[in-house]
Amino acid sequence: MDLAGKRIVLGMTGGIACYKIAEFTRLLTKAGASVQVVMTQAATKFITPVTMQALSGHPVYTDQWDARIDNNMPHIDLSREVDAIVIAPCSADFMFKLAHGACDDLLSTLCVARPMTLPLLVAPAMNVEMWQNAATQRNAAQLRTDGIAILGPDAGEQACGEIGMGRMLEPEQLLEEVIASFHRKILAGKRVLLTAGPTFEPIDPVRGITNLSSGKMGYAIARAAREAGAEVTLVSGPTALTTPYGVHRINVQTAQQMHDVVLSHVDGQDVFVAVAAVADWRVKNASKQKLKKTGEHDIPHLEFEQNPDILASVAALPAKPYCVGFAAESENLLRYGEEKRQKKGVPLLVGNIGHQTFGKDENELVLFDDKGNKRLPRADKQDLARQLIAEIAARI
Ligand code: CTP
Repeated sequence: MDLAGKRIVLGMTGGIACYKIAEFTRLLTKAGASVQVVMTQAATKFITPVTMQALSGHPVYTDQWDARIDNNMPHIDLSREVDAIVIAPCSADFMFKLAHGACDDLLSTLCVARPMTLPLLVAPAMNVEMWQNAATQRNAAQLRTDGIAILGPDAGEQACGEIGMGRMLEPEQLLEEVIASFHRKILAGKRVLLTAGPTFEPIDPVRGITNLSSGKMGYAIARAAREAGAEVTLVSGPTALTTPYGVHRINVQTAQQMHDVVLSHVDGQDVFVAVAAVADWRVKNASKQKLKKTGEHDIPHLEFEQNPDILASVAALPAKPYCVGFAAESENLLRYGEEKRQKKGVPLLVGNIGHQTFGKDENELVLFDDKGNKRLPRADKQDLARQLIAEIAARI
């Protein structure tokens, strides 16, 4: 679970986006976090503390003078022994209060009373004019200077009917931002290009040759790279997966298309990770029209030709990024892995232990570089992806 063991104070201020926080709370708890909700009086006008208590599983605090806290100092108690404070939605008024250190209700007071090292994240939600107002922008700049993370806002249709910047991020996006905030920015300022998923080589307009790759490992690495602060471009074959938050995805079908897109985006990239299960061959005599079954013995004969090797092409570029390859072998991984690393001319090659990883949520890896090999024991693909990103960051 992405937030296992994390304790989060979820502060809510007045705004129609409060209704989305019910879902956000559910997502946080599902991800393993323990959530303590604190609401301003204005927030209670939009959604009741009863709802938030039911969803978070903890009593909700709304009042600075709440006698339920033993020492009667909720502003101190609530900001100790937690891992982050998230204010969502954060109104223009609350941004003003944070920027000026106001302490006139429980939520603002506990923010000021928080230890300096405790991360504070705010998700603004307001009308476009309120967001663009010079005073709000001044306050936003001040919050950034003070080390407070501002999540979003997004542009789009607003509850008032106007269109523009100021919409709160969606609950799933907020969750990704909170998860990312717990990861060190070891790839800050870096650009990462990846391939993922299977390729699809047409036989005719309705048939083709593909493989069992689900894309899960590649998507997990793209997500981990983004969490680590990188700008990520994911060139993906056909998969059923949702694009990781904040990742730029380009869809392709064939190996040739994947090759062309990668080569047109490789300039200026710091890292290239080839995770895709690329078809080695394509059908040379693919039909433009659907092949018809004309008779019992009339079986079409397919001719094949070789696809370009995307990883080897990138690794051969004069100004190449740091290249990472993957290997799926059914036998002799230790020998074939190192041989493949040298054949492809890459500094790091990642071998899947056991070739039946396709579609699974877990994996076990072995890393080959010029110093030898290193095992990453069986774990969830997302955990392994984060370990792999740390290994890559340490090498570049
Ligand atoms: N790869 C690629 N382009 C290809 C074939 C493979 O970029 N046309 C990349 C894969 O994304 C992976 C690595 O090369 O990172 C190794 O892929 P794999 O299928 O294991 O190896 P092949 O080079 O195809 O060799 P073989 O099938 O003979 O094992």
